[in-house]
Amino acid sequence: MRTDVAQPIRLADYRPPDYLIDRVDLDIRLDRQATRVIARLKLRPNPQGKTGADLVLDGDGLRLKRLLLDGAPLDIHANFVTPDRLTIASPPHEPFSLEIETELNPAANTQLMGLYRSGSAYCTQCEAEGFRRITYFLDRPDVLSVYSVRLEAEQTDAPILLSNGNRTATAAIEGTSRHFAVWHDPFPKPCYLFALVGGDLGAIHDTFTTASGREVQLGIYVEHGKEPSAAYAMDALKRAMRWDEEVFGREYDLDVFNIVAVSDFNMGAMENKGLNVFNDKYILASPETATDTDYAQIEAVIAHEYFHNWTGNRITCRDWFQLCLKEGLTVFRDHEFSADMRSRAVRRIADVRTLRAQQFPEDAGPLAHNVRPDSYYEINNFYTATVYEKGAELIRMLKVLIGAKAFRAGMDLYFARYDGTAATVEQFIACFAEVSGRDLTQFSRWYSQSGTPLVEVEAHYDAAAQALTLDFRQSCKKTPGQDEKLPFVIPIELGLLSHDGKIFDLVTGPQDGASAHELATGVIELTEPRRRLTFHALPERPVVSLLRGFSAPISLCYAASEDDLIAQTAHDSDSFNRWQASQTYATRLLLRSVERIRAGGAAESDPRFIDALRHVLKASPADPAFAAQVLALPGEADIAREIGANVDPDAIFAARKALREAIGSGLADELRALYASLAEDGAYSPDAAAAGRRALRNAALDLYTAANPDGRTLAEAQFTHAPFMTDKIAGLGILALHAGAERERAFEAYYEFYKNEPLAIDKWFALQAAIPEAGALERIRALMTHPAFSLSNPNRARALIGAFAAGNQTQFNAPDGSGYDFVAAIVLQLDEKNPQVAARLLGAFKSWRALEPHRRGLAEAALRRVIAQNRLSPDVKDIVERSLN
Ligand code: PHE
Ligand code: ZN
Repeated sequence: MRTDVAQPIRLADYRPPDYLIDRVDLDIRLDRQATRVIARLKLRPNPQGKTGADLVLDGDGLRLKRLLLDGAPLDIHANFVTPDRLTIASPPHEPFSLEIETELNPAANTQLMGLYRSGSAYCTQCEAEGFRRITYFLDRPDVLSVYSVRLEAEQTDAPILLSNGNRTATAAIEGTSRHFAVWHDPFPKPCYLFALVGGDLGAIHDTFTTASGREVQLGIYVEHGKEPSAAYAMDALKRAMRWDEEVFGREYDLDVFNIVAVSDFNMGAMENKGLNVFNDKYILASPETATDTDYAQIEAVIAHEYFHNWTGNRITCRDWFQLCLKEGLTVFRDHEFSADMRSRAVRRIADVRTLRAQQFPEDAGPLAHNVRPDSYYEINNFYTATVYEKGAELIRMLKVLIGAKAFRAGMDLYFARYDGTAATVEQFIACFAEVSGRDLTQFSRWYSQSGTPLVEVEAHYDAAAQALTLDFRQSCKKTPGQDEKLPFVIPIELGLLSHDGKIFDLVTGPQDGASAHELATGVIELTEPRRRLTFHALPERPVVSLLRGFSAPISLCYAASEDDLIAQTAHDSDSFNRWQASQTYATRLLLRSVERIRAGGAAESDPRFIDALRHVLKASPADPAFAAQVLALPGEADIAREIGANVDPDAIFAARKALREAIGSGLADELRALYASLAEDGAYSPDAAAAGRRALRNAALDLYTAANPDGRTLAEAQFTHAPFMTDKIAGLGILALHAGAERERAFEAYYEFYKNEPLAIDKWFALQAAIPEAGALERIRALMTHPAFSLSNPNRARALIGAFAAGNQTQFNAPDGSGYDFVAAIVLQLDEKNPQVAARLLGAFKSWRALEPHRRGLAEAALRRVIAQNRLSPDVKDIVERSLN
């Protein structure tokens, strides 16, 4: 653990490295407690760096055994060596070599950064700064090197030996029980993309022939016995490879592409060149153990990591401030892939839901930061929804602004110009400015100003003139370190419709301001704090469909009438806004109910909304997945975000519960009939259409059961008899909301059935952690002593503690502060082992300032207890300090 007083790293301080490392030859002898690493580096002074500077290599907890410069031993003690740094004073002025021997203890590595053990395998994680836990190095993404790696191990301990690139040799070492493999990666890469895996693993293999006819060997390595569960991931991989050729013109470049699934992993997956390492949750799927959502996520994460081969690996980041250059862009690419593989409309709704649930609260709270941060204390804490999800929205918005053709031309230019380099956001944006002829200076503010812009719109219809005037006003609240914001460029996709769904042409006069381009595309651009537009030739007051497809990551405030919202829910030709109108309607209703409940009254009931949902159900056969999205209603956290301040989670829960009950009783017959009509028989198919039907069927049962006790019988029967996980877990999830014997029976049965399937047991923990009842915390405490629980497995910790902190609004925010105290205590406990996961858990406090005063005080007290600890990791320290700022 680092103890020096932390200084922020600033983008403004960027300097090119003083030395470059052209070649890295690693010779690694794997051993559980004493792995020996010999790194042979070819260095030279960087013409762009400072001449004659000391060579300062990064380390993190390293044990140096030997050090040679140009073949001559260096006195370890005469040079400045600490576990965290190796300084060589005035090294040669011409190319030179270093040989560094270190010794590692992978079995003792609980941070899961650098070389560690997961199950029976050795594996590595180097992004962002894990390579320095393997050897001393210039651990920064702008140092690109060609790697050769020789791995040696006991044949029985690690019969499989993998690293980046192509395998050039493998053999048994005669006279011993050992063997080795040599891997060579011809593409220069930063060290964060280095990886090795050793272990006794099963595999499935396949091949892919690229557009230009090269055959690539594909392998997915998993625990023995799990091979069949990797088939869907392999299928997704081949589809992703084809799609990137067709849509972005990007071909794969090595002869081999390997993926390894491990069960101990801090994040989702990692794009190491030619050797992706995955959290097994994003590889393993069988109909019996994975839900439809799991399948969709596997497809998306497989694609995401594969797409990094071009956006991240072939072109990498100059420094970690440019993280969104690879992550935002790659998320955008995986969103597009999923949209093409599934329903574009439904994917868009799901992606925006995620953005609003994860990123909007971040932007509205103490952890708000730019998509491209200006400074950081701990880079691990910047793998955020802002960098990833908002970063993806910015790319999408760029495409909306310049059009699909110019977007593709800009991408082509970017690939052609920066291949093999470490690039910046400016260089990326400049490519699009160049091909589109557009000045993107103002657009770039999206990268340097945090916070979610608010766009307020007022409409005035003049019946005599048959004209509609729209007044737009944009603003953005202050965020940490940013009191004043400059106006953003905001594309607002717009449509005007009649109440029965006819589409009006957009017609403006010469003085009204909309350009011909805006009229043709339907995308209005806001660039100033205010803008007024008038549309003509409107014989009736139109329904205004604003921000179609969610054309910009903003929050929109427009007082549409209830009639408008009902009409939009029924008719808007933009399906995103059809969904949005239903959500807006529900949100308003819920907000009124919250007010009434807090004033001691009852929730509001609204037969019109129930009626609108009845129509949605009637139309649902045409698009079940869409109907399921409408039925999902805004979540408790969505409602809290809309309220914004003085939040009372219990009132929100009560309002939402009342609305669900009103729907369940008002539409009991329809829901029951729909549930019956969507009954499945036959084999499981993970495709989007089948998944959509299951989603609707389960949403119907969920709402039905909210008001009708016999729903529990249906849910229990479904849980017991469903052959596949999606329906099984849906049944269990419904039962989980209703205290009683059925629920306890079901949880027991589930455990018995799945006790040998870790990913299914994660779901078991998570569902119990989310039970929205007093007593949830006692259940969680008891579950922590369950033999299947382990705080050191990140998936398990997230399943129990993470699901509670992020998904159980009423109990995490229990008015006695017990939820806050519990999570804070776990964070401190976990911090000693795995700071990265601990810091992420602490992120659950990101909206604490928006709570009502009593809870706010308790949350703050819990955070103060964390900050008072004196052995905090930099990761947790950074989050808690910013949270309290
Ligand atoms: N680069 C990985 C991804 O998004 C995420 C990751 C970051 C994984 C840091 C591990 C450590 O694809
Ligand atoms: Zn990524």
